[in-house]
Amino acid sequence: MSSSPHDPSRRAAFAAVGAAGAGLVLTLPGCAKTPKDDDESQPDTTAVEDLMREHGILRRLIFVYRETAAMIRKAPTSLDLAALGQAAGLFRTFGEDYHERSLEEAHVFPMVKTSGGRASSLIDTLVAQHNRGRQITDFVAARAKVGSLGDSGPLADALESFARMYEIHSALEDTVVFEAWKALLGRKELNRWADIFEDIERATFKGDGFDLALEQVSSIEQRLGLGSLAAFTAPVPPAA
Ligand SMILES: [Fe+2]
Ligand SMILES: [Fe+2]
Repeated sequence: MSSSPHDPSRRAAFAAVGAAGAGLVLTLPGCAKTPKDDDESQPDTTAVEDLMREHGILRRLIFVYRETAAMIRKAPTSLDLAALGQAAGLFRTFGEDYHERSLEEAHVFPMVKTSGGRASSLIDTLVAQHNRGRQITDFVAARAKVGSLGDSGPLADALESFARMYEIHSALEDTVVFEAWKALLGRKELNRWADIFEDIERATFKGDGFDLALEQVSSIEQRLGLGSLAAFTAPVPPAA
């Protein structure tokens, strides 16, 4: 039996320990109990959850792209181009090579494509968008490597168009494609796929790819001055 935290029983235990560690207590009438007391009530981490939390890393990179594009348009000389290059590199290794090619294109999409309905009709476009994303990543990485912005308009345009594409791309995967895949497989099979994905992740990154990517995206955000969540709270709107 594997001791991986992605094993169904281990995943439930990890979720419970995490919640308890965060000081969360479930209060029921007449008693107080922690999630640790009742592991069976906790949902397992499924393969779909794994895919969606990977989208979380990619959305943070997309946020970096959007903010970087705004910086380029406003004050291009202050931009840390090397940090932008690091963001493109992480999108390549974690997003394109691992999440898109090794999981979605190799396993999820072929199954969903045969299922009919809206989800299967999206697959060709999703693959075309993966390929367009790779072209944009090549372009961003090449411009970052040069080390000076030069004509900055095309770079800002590319970052914004990538962000626009990937926001709707990942949202439709989350709400339509992964739901169709989930319906095809059922809970037990999804847990088996979580273990398969875990094996692919460990073979690809020689460790926990999600944790490594999380560390890297946090470092990129810090370097670009994007590390404070509070800085992005929207201003109070004017009186109606
Ligand atoms: Fe995708
Ligand atoms: Fe995806």
